[in-house]
Amino acid sequence: MSDELKRRAAKRALQAVRPGMKLGLGTGSTAEHFVRLLGERIAAESLEVVCVPTSEATRNLAQEVGVPITTLEHEPALDLTVDGADEIDSQLRLIKGGGGALLREKIVASASTRMIVIADESKHVGTLGRFPLPVEVVPFGLAATRRAIVSLLGARGLSTSLELRQKGNDPFVTDNGNYIFDLKLGAIDEPERLAADLSKIPGVVEHGLFIGLCSGAVIAAPDGEEILG
Ligand code: 5RP
Repeated sequence: MSDELKRRAAKRALQAVRPGMKLGLGTGSTAEHFVRLLGERIAAESLEVVCVPTSEATRNLAQEVGVPITTLEHEPALDLTVDGADEIDSQLRLIKGGGGALLREKIVASASTRMIVIADESKHVGTLGRFPLPVEVVPFGLAATRRAIVSLLGARGLSTSLELRQKGNDPFVTDNGNYIFDLKLGAIDEPERLAADLSKIPGVVEHGLFIGLCSGAVIAAPDGEEILG
């Protein structure tokens, strides 16, 4: 059911795509539906768009399904990014990075006039933070960066367990050659403050709090799609 909801959200967001648009393509299972549906529409309507993928996985998928790819070097200003999310609240604040693509996702979303999030209803939350917050860090100085994050959270009275994301027996490596800490916070009362604090830590490349980037969302439920924003 959840997969069908993801597909329905993607299909609805596809309605926002117009000929000539420059698009950002998200990463993950929901974004995958969007890329596949976009490929079908391009084939059916000879729709002319160019797209910047947010991961190597999405780049490979886009090429496979006939979606034209470009880069931010060629197209630094995009019209619309469509991406999934791990959590979204009523203020359109997000947690992203469950798939490990948060850095490119944030760069691409920031380069876009609009960002539409597509999600099934399970992602729509009252308070962010049940999903562990991904934080991308450079491998150099890993223990020191970890210590700085723990100290920051402790000073703010937040208790967390912080795990280095693994792939098998090795650290998970992002498309940018970095590692990810997943911060189990439970609830994030002040996302803006936490986002600003995390960004100040040397060694933190980016965090999965997306604030002020999402302009709309399609939340698919069994009884229909809810539009936020
Ligand atoms: C990848 C992401 C994804 O958008 C997020 O993890 C949601 O994925 P899915 O659609 O598979 O639930 O942020 O970095």
